[in-house]
Amino acid sequence: MDHKTLFDEAVKAAENSYSKYSGFSVGAALLTSDGKVFKGCNIENASYSLTNCAERTAVFKAVSEGYTDFTAIAVAGSGSGDFSKPCYPCGACLQVLSEFCGDDLTIILSDGEYKLSDFLPKRFCEESME
Ligand code: THU
Repeated sequence: MDHKTLFDEAVKAAENSYSKYSGFSVGAALLTSDGKVFKGCNIENASYSLTNCAERTAVFKAVSEGYTDFTAIAVAGSGSGDFSKPCYPCGACLQVLSEFCGDDLTIILSDGEYKLSDFLPKRFCEESME
């Protein structure tokens, strides 16, 4: 799947955003190595800290369905319906992505393409505990 299409899927995923507290809708579209797309949105809660970001929703959906090998994720966020400003993934989502993805995971945003290692050059992982 081309990266523009994956970004469009992320914008579509944001339609289901449950973001009544922040008013900021986020969608993510996660591409597996065999070409399947898992979409996720942010899901807020009256107890604010229980909010789940769109990226983690997508990762948890995929892993719970048995998919753990990913090549790209697109993320789109907006408070107005205009998704042209880049929505950089938060640190918690980068850490969760890093559990399943190598440094070369492609992160597609409205302002271009990045690698996981651009945002998280060093990370806590299994080897950190050896
Ligand atoms: N949010 C995400 O869904 N992903 C991110 O990477 C950053 C922030 C959501 C969480 C919250 O619902 C809203 O954006 C405002 O922080």
